[in-house]
Amino acid sequence: MKNLMNITDLAVEEIDELVAVAEDIIANPVKYRDKCRYKKLATLFFEPSTRTRLSFEAAMLELGGSVLGFSEANSSSAVKGESVADTARTVSCYADIIAMRHPKEGAPLVASMAASVPIINAGDGGHNHPTQTLTDLLTIKREKGRLNNLTIGFCGDLKFGRTVHSLIEAMARYTGIRVVLISPDELKLPGYLKKETLDAKGIEYLETTDLSAVMPELDILYMTRVQRERFFNEEDYLRLKDSYILTPAKLENAKSDLAILHPLPRVNEIHTSVDSDPRACYFRQVLNGKFIRMALILKLLEVE
Ligand code: NCD
Repeated sequence: MKNLMNITDLAVEEIDELVAVAEDIIANPVKYRDKCRYKKLATLFFEPSTRTRLSFEAAMLELGGSVLGFSEANSSSAVKGESVADTARTVSCYADIIAMRHPKEGAPLVASMAASVPIINAGDGGHNHPTQTLTDLLTIKREKGRLNNLTIGFCGDLKFGRTVHSLIEAMARYTGIRVVLISPDELKLPGYLKKETLDAKGIEYLETTDLSAVMPELDILYMTRVQRERFFNEEDYLRLKDSYILTPAKLENAKSDLAILHPLPRVNEIHTSVDSDPRACYFRQVLNGKFIRMALILKLLEVE
């Protein structure tokens, strides 16, 4: 049995294969519509979600399977004091595969040690979000035609943004990658990622507070929301929340083939007038999230 806790649980070859399967699903949807007949996916979400939970459910439904689960901790026995391990062991009796989101870093890992079916980390606190990363990689592949030789700018909350952490861990394993980290001083990328991922893999990176200054260099601009729920006080959030607001004017000196990604939800960091720019990929990215999760479910359930 295989779980997905961290994007580095997958070899680069396995990621490339998932991307290829997702592209085949897009090209030949009918071929896949009964692949998971009689299989059940449980979504255990202890934290809010729109895209991640619904895309997992849509993915399983499109594979001919069924879904069950809960979308908030308050409607589960967690409020009675049940441990994540006991919940996972219980749900293993009902489902063939589990996607779990939790506000505590490491909770899905604890669940995976108690479960008897594969567990997918659907976001654990400010730590990791590997299936968003698979979504991002499929999007980059489809938009740019490659996953190497790219300059990627990450902008916004690089401290608490788990999607940033996982995508950096993934991109660091491709060749010709340059990383530009754009954030306020208080929301810089955690030191462990700089040391254990960027430095360890010899990835060239630059830290700056100035988005406009680096805009012309970027092939990908990965915008993120300031993660309000991870702040210790509201004043800091209010001071930092509008640090970066992408507008058409700010894109004037950007490359004509820039790809703008955002895991969503967006708050203020991309003005809605950017949405009609062909370089805005974030709603195409949403759709890719369903296809790559279909590919992942097939892999973890070992469906041919
Ligand atoms: C992200 C998350 O939950 O980390 N959302 C998502 O899954 N698409 C990003 C965010 O909440 O800002």
